[in-house]
Amino acid sequence: MSLKIALLPGDGIGPEVTAEAVRILKNVAEHAGQAFTFSTHKIGGVAIDSDGMGLPESTLEACLGANAVLLGAVGDPKFDGRLPAERPEAALLALRQALGGYANLRPAICYAPLAKRTPFQPEKVRGADLLIVRELLGGLYYGEPRGFDASGNTAFNTLIYSRHEIERVARVAFERARERRGRVASIDKANVLETSRLWRTVVSEIAKEYPDVALEHVYVDTAAMRLATSPTSFDVMLCDNLFGDILSDQAASIAGSLGLLPSATLGGRVDLYEPVHGSAPDIAGKGWANPIGAIASAAMLLRFTAKMEKEAAAVDHAIEDALTAGARTRDLAGPGERVLSTQEMGQTIEDALADVRDRRHSYHAV
Ligand code: NAD
Ligand code: IPM
Ligand code: MN
Repeated sequence: MSLKIALLPGDGIGPEVTAEAVRILKNVAEHAGQAFTFSTHKIGGVAIDSDGMGLPESTLEACLGANAVLLGAVGDPKFDGRLPAERPEAALLALRQALGGYANLRPAICYAPLAKRTPFQPEKVRGADLLIVRELLGGLYYGEPRGFDASGNTAFNTLIYSRHEIERVARVAFERARERRGRVASIDKANVLETSRLWRTVVSEIAKEYPDVALEHVYVDTAAMRLATSPTSFDVMLCDNLFGDILSDQAASIAGSLGLLPSATLGGRVDLYEPVHGSAPDIAGKGWANPIGAIASAAMLLRFTAKMEKEAAAVDHAIEDALTAGARTRDLAGPGERVLSTQEMGQTIEDALADVRDRRHSYHAV
């Protein structure tokens, strides 16, 4: 199979972490005898600087012509004074809309060796393994009207959801739950918002198609509390666009670092893969960034777009093995632990991948 991958490294640590994800994808392609072709394009602040716009036409065309898009991050503090529509982040929102993927999968796992690196008591967080299914094309992010009134002293956004938008993302959550532990927590604010009333009604209707999956409705404020007190009580969390954005960063605390979390956006014309974190301007250019979120996003690309489950699982194992063996970027290192650079972590995971293959090979030979 020949797979066309459009790379959008973007801003800040984006290029640093994307390079390590590409390292792993090239290794996988070589060993599987597959042809992956990569092309690199600008998005975000770097594109505003060079082309005067965050999402140049050439970038969008390349993405629409690819099988998958792998994005690093966008955002630069030098644009902080600008209105939302003129910031690098607007380019990412426009790209998501153009690619059409509405279901954003954000897994958060507490790898046992990192339990003590989280803010939780290790016994409370060990075994936590949840999947946020975030609606990505609707809600407050895209609702119209939006803006400021003439005085500039009043601003407004529109929270709007239609039945169709809720149904399609709910189905993804129930399908994923079937592959996992069979539980969906649907997150809303149905005690206050009409959109959440509709959300709750529609999700309950879709649940009837999945009698083998247990559904609970949880208010978003309670969900935030439960993530902090009993993260193991969640399996799949189905969220609207804004709640999913917020809760996925909170879920990163279960993993031990925001740098660990990957994502996949499915359901549209072209699949989009990106780590959950941003451009991290505070550490950009230092070689401190954790590339695991980007590498795990590449594993999701192998799983969902390339349909290479064996290779995807091998990359996941390699990440876990590297962590178990003590590999730590700066965000994960405890006192006295050796700190790896972004590239060293990528290399360590590549080496661990070779070991995973060797083990599988000798297992089959026995
Ligand atoms: P951020 O996610 O960039 O960083 C938050 C904190 O986490 C920082 O302390 C950072 O150093 C740390 N961090 C993030 N990723 C890391 C990694 N891989 N390894 C180690 N540490 C990591 O969030 P922010 O600082 O609020 O936002 C910075 C910019 O990124 C903003 O412009 C924001 O809009 C943008 N952003 C972009 C995306 C995206 O492109 N998908 C996502 C979130 C934020
Ligand atoms: C994310 C980011 C984006 C979002 C921003 C950069 C537009 O925070 O992917 O989580 O809010 O969706
Ligand atoms: Mn976010």
